[in-house]
Amino acid sequence: MSTPSPLPSLIGESPSFLDTLQKVSIAAQIDRPLLVIGERGTGKELIAERIHYLSRRWDGPFVKLNCAALSEDLLDSELFGHEAGAFTGAKQRRPGRFERADGGTLFLDEIATASATVQEKLLRVIEYGEFERVGGSETITCNVRVVGATNVNLADAVEEGSFRADLLDRLAFDVIPMPPMRARREDILPLAEFFGANMARELGDSWPGLSERARQALLDYHWPGNVRELKNVIERSTYRHLAVSDEDDPLREIVLDPFATPWPLEPLVQTDKPEKAARQIRTERPAVQLPAADGESYALDEWLNGLEKDAVERALSLHGGSQKQAATFLQLSYDQMRGLVRKHGFATRQRHSKP
Ligand SMILES: Nc1ncnc2c1ncn2[C@@H]1O[C@H](COP(=O)(O)OP(=O)(O)OP(=O)(O)O)[C@@H](O)[C@H]1O
Ligand SMILES: [Mg+2]
Repeated sequence: MSTPSPLPSLIGESPSFLDTLQKVSIAAQIDRPLLVIGERGTGKELIAERIHYLSRRWDGPFVKLNCAALSEDLLDSELFGHEAGAFTGAKQRRPGRFERADGGTLFLDEIATASATVQEKLLRVIEYGEFERVGGSETITCNVRVVGATNVNLADAVEEGSFRADLLDRLAFDVIPMPPMRARREDILPLAEFFGANMARELGDSWPGLSERARQALLDYHWPGNVRELKNVIERSTYRHLAVSDEDDPLREIVLDPFATPWPLEPLVQTDKPEKAARQIRTERPAVQLPAADGESYALDEWLNGLEKDAVERALSLHGGSQKQAATFLQLSYDQMRGLVRKHGFATRQRHSKP
């Protein structure tokens, strides 16, 4: 019998996260395929691991594979194994992940990227527990629970013909939706403390905690990369801070963007077609993160007003409070800028003539 791993520690006590955990505890008990869906970095892999260790298969193997990491042929042989001589370089028979996961759980990450051939074989193995190794004719049977994960909308993928409807039906016996960071804002600070303390321990230091300014910066950010991004940001900010600060000086500076530099590089665009390049720069914005959770509504006016206020505030702070420079930066006239400053109630530096 293999040694069981402990349940992964999952931080979070927001209602939406607790709801997910409760769903997971119930679904883990049913010996059927499951699908974990959610944006990048929301914790899908950790949840799949939890599903395994809460299931009846907990003392069997937990095997993972990222379908997007391999080419079509490699994915086929990695999942189902191959016989000796199946292709150039296949000197010996090699069991695939299904065989290795026998009696346990196989976690298939980014399952939407699997090719049509692999999808067909997956359907059969999920339905009947049967498959053949690549280059073989012997039918192998296995007893594996498949947990898939994806950050794309599989119903849309079915609609456009890139994902099999029958495979989706089988996989989605039940679906665990992972809440994005914006739907669990209460968890931002506990997660930050957790990642910060781990980082400090790794560096052999004690964790000094977060200053008020750091907390505010973390709460103000919208976390498009979810928990993974938060983890990176805190680890980066912590190591930079500990390198230069006194022991119990709380973390002040949150480094959201490690590329931030006074000397930015030229954008990667075709310079022989300046018009196209300009268009490209203008359209390369990050995807908009809507402020409401699924099913909720939000007032567009209020939201745009908030964005405008943030932009003005940031431009002013970048330019030491100078309305003139902030106006140039935002491509506004000085009068427009003054209007916005008044509208949003900012106190700014008076213009001084240079000595
Ligand atoms: N609730 C949580 N508590 C502690 N750590 C977490 C939690 N959720 C996610 N993490 C950490 O965040 C990182 C991203 O999580 P994970 O890899 O599970 O996300 P994912 O949804 O599978 O991402 P992707 O879509 O990019 O594959 C990992 O380092 C993971 O350990
Ligand atoms: Mg993942």
